[in-house]
Amino acid sequence: MQRENFGSRFGVLVAMAGSAIGLGNLWRFPYMVGEYGGAAFIFVYIICFFLLCLPILIAEVTVGRRSRTNAFRAFEVLAPGSRWKWAGVLMVATPVIVVSYYSVIGGWSIEYFIKSCSLDFSSGAGAGQDIGTVFSSFISSTWLPLAYHTVFLLVTAAVVAAGVKSGIERFGKVMMPLLFVIMIVIAVRSVTLPGAGEGLEWLFRPDFSKIDASVCAAALGQGFFSLSVGFGIMLTYGSYISKDENIAVSSAYTAVSDLIFALIASCAIMPAVFVFGLDPREGPGLVFETLPFIFSNMPLGGLISILFFLALIVAALTSSISLFEVGVAYLMEEKGMSRRTASASIFAVTWVLGVLCSLSFGPLSGFKVLGNILFDFFDKLSANYLMPFGALLIVLFVGWRMKKSDIRSEFTNGGTLAGNSRIFPFVCFLIRFLAPAAIIVIFLSNLV
Ligand code: PHE
Repeated sequence: MQRENFGSRFGVLVAMAGSAIGLGNLWRFPYMVGEYGGAAFIFVYIICFFLLCLPILIAEVTVGRRSRTNAFRAFEVLAPGSRWKWAGVLMVATPVIVVSYYSVIGGWSIEYFIKSCSLDFSSGAGAGQDIGTVFSSFISSTWLPLAYHTVFLLVTAAVVAAGVKSGIERFGKVMMPLLFVIMIVIAVRSVTLPGAGEGLEWLFRPDFSKIDASVCAAALGQGFFSLSVGFGIMLTYGSYISKDENIAVSSAYTAVSDLIFALIASCAIMPAVFVFGLDPREGPGLVFETLPFIFSNMPLGGLISILFFLALIVAALTSSISLFEVGVAYLMEEKGMSRRTASASIFAVTWVLGVLCSLSFGPLSGFKVLGNILFDFFDKLSANYLMPFGALLIVLFVGWRMKKSDIRSEFTNGGTLAGNSRIFPFVCFLIRFLAPAAIIVIFLSNLV
């Protein structure tokens, strides 16, 4: 069977950036900045991001493009007959778990988008007060979240079923520019609110005394999540990148757009949080509780609210598409399924798991796994354990198991990219030594 490829350089970028830019930027990054002390966190984050997360991304893409196959088979191709094939199993299983709860959050965004369109959040100060309760009673209800979860997952499956070039790439080419424009509009609105300076200062003037080990571990974990590394996703996308693309440059563009987007999202959110005298350390409720309150009280809030939740849906969709593709590529290449059947099968599995996650806020809240409701269990399992572990396997594989000459040839396109040849030893050093050490540190810090 002829393997599909991305059709253009811009297509590679929008697909990779589409995967990277998601709820992690719009929802998780701003509240992590809030919890871990503002600018100091951002400072540490940027350092970790380029010194550690970017090399890991390059390593993952290298495995994909070298093996030109799905995340399961890649390890078998590059290290035949070894135990590394278990790494492949993990790389396919993790995204299936993640997409099932990710699509539940995607579903919430649809509800909030519809609420915004019906001007539910823009009816003045009073309406905003009990938005926290509105949120908790919505997610713990039975049917509505399930319906939205289904819609969200159906759209994801439909785009993936349409193929790499005519589904994933085409969707990204329209949606990613739209996403940037929307977020810039919102950021401009937020930073021009009277009194926005305090929030900006909090975001960009670091207090270095706030930096400690927990800030570093949190920054690194956020970096992995945000760049979608350790899941087999970038590996799968890497396998669709043609041999004459420069993988270092594609990875660097992805990382830079992901970072810029996280910063724009923070500028869109934090100044407004300060203007309204709210607490930046709100945690996960920031997007669904604090923001609707702000939108309901600020000039042009109704419009901004519609735009924001539209952005949230788009960002979540391009990420869930990438998660979904990992399982689909596996079923197509390993089980001989057509793209449509494979998409329908992954849909069936993730739909059922997602239903259980969604119900775990309401009717199934009594069912606990290791003390967590199912949604939280999936979230913690993947973000705190499976993802760092996956990332560790990737860097160990590339740094210590693959032949150095193979990596060099992949990184430099057979020696034709002079700039890449020059930085190769440094990138190799980061992948072999610094990255594994840092991952083990966050791994341990998650255990205690
Ligand atoms: N990187 C995505 C985000 O920032 C999240 C994600 C993680 C997507 C892992 C796919 C895989 O939201």
